[in-house]
Amino acid sequence: MNILLIGSGGREHALAWAISASPLLDRLYCTPGNAGIASLADCIALDVSDHAAIVAFCEKNDIGLVVVGPEAPLVAGLADDLDKAGIKVFGPSAAAARLEGSKGFTKDLCAKYNIPTAAYARFRNEAAAQDYLSGQDAPYVVKADGLAAGKGVTVAETLDDARAAVSDIFAGRFGADGAEVVIEAFLDGEEASFFALCDGEHALPLATAQDHKRVGEGDTGPNTGGMGAYSPAPIMDEALCARTLDEIIQPTLKAMADMGCPYKGVLYAGLMIGSDGPQLIEYNVRFGDPECQVLMMRLKDDIVTLLLGSADGTLDKMSARWHDETALTIVMAAKGYPGTPQTGGEISNLDEATSDHKVEIFHAGTKAENGKITAAGGRVLNVTALGDSVAEAQARAYKAVDKIDWPDGFCRRDIGWRAISRGS
Ligand code: AMP
Ligand code: GLY
Repeated sequence: MNILLIGSGGREHALAWAISASPLLDRLYCTPGNAGIASLADCIALDVSDHAAIVAFCEKNDIGLVVVGPEAPLVAGLADDLDKAGIKVFGPSAAAARLEGSKGFTKDLCAKYNIPTAAYARFRNEAAAQDYLSGQDAPYVVKADGLAAGKGVTVAETLDDARAAVSDIFAGRFGADGAEVVIEAFLDGEEASFFALCDGEHALPLATAQDHKRVGEGDTGPNTGGMGAYSPAPIMDEALCARTLDEIIQPTLKAMADMGCPYKGVLYAGLMIGSDGPQLIEYNVRFGDPECQVLMMRLKDDIVTLLLGSADGTLDKMSARWHDETALTIVMAAKGYPGTPQTGGEISNLDEATSDHKVEIFHAGTKAENGKITAAGGRVLNVTALGDSVAEAQARAYKAVDKIDWPDGFCRRDIGWRAISRGS
């Protein structure tokens, strides 16, 4: 079968890598792709917001499955338009993608179906939101309702900072994504990510991971898309995984089906593990980036079979098996990230860095120019390794990082610290 993959990040390179190993694959296309994906797929320039153009490409090239990496095309209804044209797609409809596209929608769903999450209130009016904040305790959690390019969440230590965040959103900082504000109670605990494939009715749990969202060592500094991750997350033992499935994922699938918008695709639950067990911080309707990179390194089964199971509604007949080893990925970013990254610098020695067969380098913001790889974005490379423990995978990944020659790049040197400090 021919497959079209949509996206250009490390997540999509990892998906392309896994899809390329499938016996079901004839030809892989990717739009827009990156320099790493180009070694596995035909990278083509299509306007992803032009759904008719995507449909026409699929028809012309006999595409049997479209795999959508990022959330924005899903929230914009790409899966709906492909479905209408009779083209199979991995990813939810726009109505189901509200689980990521509207924080208020998800909070109301949790309230109605008794899914554990932080207490909250929704506001469309600044005065009412500011008034509500006065009655809350620090830290304050203020969120723009919509996608806001992943930057709509503020956790504020002081009332003044929380008030400023509310004002900012209502002043239009995130455009229509900030037409509504959600204010939540602060949850205490350790964060973990749980991934499940869904087919509208059934959930097939995949694996767990932990991300490092802050740019600085020791989890300090501004938030990023993620500076590194590992899987599995040692905190997510069997009992916590079972509770997450029973108390969070399954009731969500039932709620979405009841509402007439069954959820298909991967459901990524961002969890806070506190003294009462798992609570939902947020849902994403796509694989995490860089969490997907560590998941794909550990997956033993054919990813294409699983993605088709989600699209076809046959996940109840499937299972997913994982390597016992830990996978750990280190994001190398261009200096300046998450502000303005220094792009254009040459990156070399990548082949030498992957000489260890337990190391893979997934590209994110890279470009190939005159036989050279250059940096073309904020997050640029994902240096990923397997090991018998988090510590071993970490050592192997940093050894590979240290072979890469890229003067404009940087990475955190402590990816995995939390797990390693508890002996994992
Ligand atoms: P989100 O964009 O929803 O993932 O939020 C970004 C980050 O803000 C999360 O990864 C958490 O670290 C933090 N966060 C969001 N909501 C809460 C909450 N209710 N309590 C504590 N931390 C939160
Ligand atoms: N790494 C966090 C995310 O993909 O949302």
